[in-house]
Amino acid sequence: MDYFNYQQDGQLWAEDVPLTQLAERFGTPLYVYSRATLERHWHAFDQAVADHPHLICYAVKANSNLGVLNVLARLGSGFDIVSGGELERVIAAGGDPRKVVFSGVGKTAAEMQRALELGIKCFNVESEPELERLNQVAGEMGVVAPVSLRINPDVDAQTHPYISTGLRDNKFGIAFDRAPDVYRLAHALPHLQVVGMDCHIGSQLTALSPFVDATDRLLALIETLKAEGITIHHLDVGGGLGVTYNDERPPEPSEYAKVLMSRLTDYPDLELIFEPGRAIAANAGVMLTRVEYLKHTEHKNFAIVDAAMNDLIRPTLYQAWQAIVPVSPREGEAVMYDFVGPICETGDFIGKDRALCLAPGDLLAVRSAGAYGFVMASNYNSRVRAAEIMVDGQQAHVVREREELTQLWQLEHRLPE
Ligand code: LLP
Repeated sequence: MDYFNYQQDGQLWAEDVPLTQLAERFGTPLYVYSRATLERHWHAFDQAVADHPHLICYAVKANSNLGVLNVLARLGSGFDIVSGGELERVIAAGGDPRKVVFSGVGKTAAEMQRALELGIKCFNVESEPELERLNQVAGEMGVVAPVSLRINPDVDAQTHPYISTGLRDNKFGIAFDRAPDVYRLAHALPHLQVVGMDCHIGSQLTALSPFVDATDRLLALIETLKAEGITIHHLDVGGGLGVTYNDERPPEPSEYAKVLMSRLTDYPDLELIFEPGRAIAANAGVMLTRVEYLKHTEHKNFAIVDAAMNDLIRPTLYQAWQAIVPVSPREGEAVMYDFVGPICETGDFIGKDRALCLAPGDLLAVRSAGAYGFVMASNYNSRVRAAEIMVDGQQAHVVREREELTQLWQLEHRLPE
């Protein structure tokens, strides 16, 4: 559930603010987030596992805006990061480094050092060479690094191949069969302390069975390790819970948690960590865009809008479907349109074959744009990146200003005369 609803005036609002007002005030394209929705989604996870020791580590990559991170930090959220940049953002947003888990296959020595200085909760290590490097960096600093191994449980997440990460062929994690050996190595290295086990099998999952299969495999591994005197204190099940973009019916966080908890009855002290990104942020944001032109050809009707693939690349990159709805619906006959942007590529579309009744100048909301939206934006075609707004009740806060044209080449140089 989210707080983007049509109100009695027939218009789409974000919480207590009409979206037309925001578009007029701040221009388009414009990302608009709802604080109440972010909080609601975060609490859904938190309450689902209320009695069991747990930590929600929001996956920063889904939406790393300082305003978004700050809203979650105030709830006491932890964070799942994948770069030094994300780590600094969490700190700048007021997040607690002791609640940070660091994922990713390519951590640099400098990133490890900074994370150790700040005292993060855990490194989610993905390979043996990474273990060796972490051991060395920690040794040079005279500290002990807390580690979890990301296990690749080889289960099919039944999602888009680009966002499926738990299969044998993926670059992610440590193969299930090799895991005991790698744990032994981690246990033996002097500047590491084994604290956890993690996995992340993919994103936008709409069924529970892959999560359950992965968890069962990891619990079996925890038993094997226990027999060898290696104790696992936390189990990090990653992110990946899907959301409704169209007609998907993903499980609620409460259903997801319930089935996990049914597996953990013998592990009352095993802390459960979640790394949700999309499930918290996607439906907490919309992207507003205006119709510039309606172009009718013999074969197709195009609605040319002022947002493009540089603003929202998911449709182009994954053929992802996101709802496009009018902010002020008009009466009349709906016409089938492809919604395309001004970028010079055929792949520049936001949605295809959508029936709407439109006129030039109409304001549209692209739904479910709070996750993997702005964070994947670029300046392609020398387009400035959109502004971002956080709505909080009747208030609207600018959480990122629209870029200025001169910023596009601010870091560039002409050759000397
Ligand atoms: N943890 C790890 C280690 C991850 O790699 C990811 C996402 C997450 C957590 C969060 O997953 P979520 O709860 O958001 O599904 N750009 C793609 C999604 C890429 C996801 C990458 N990893 C998209 O727009 O669909």
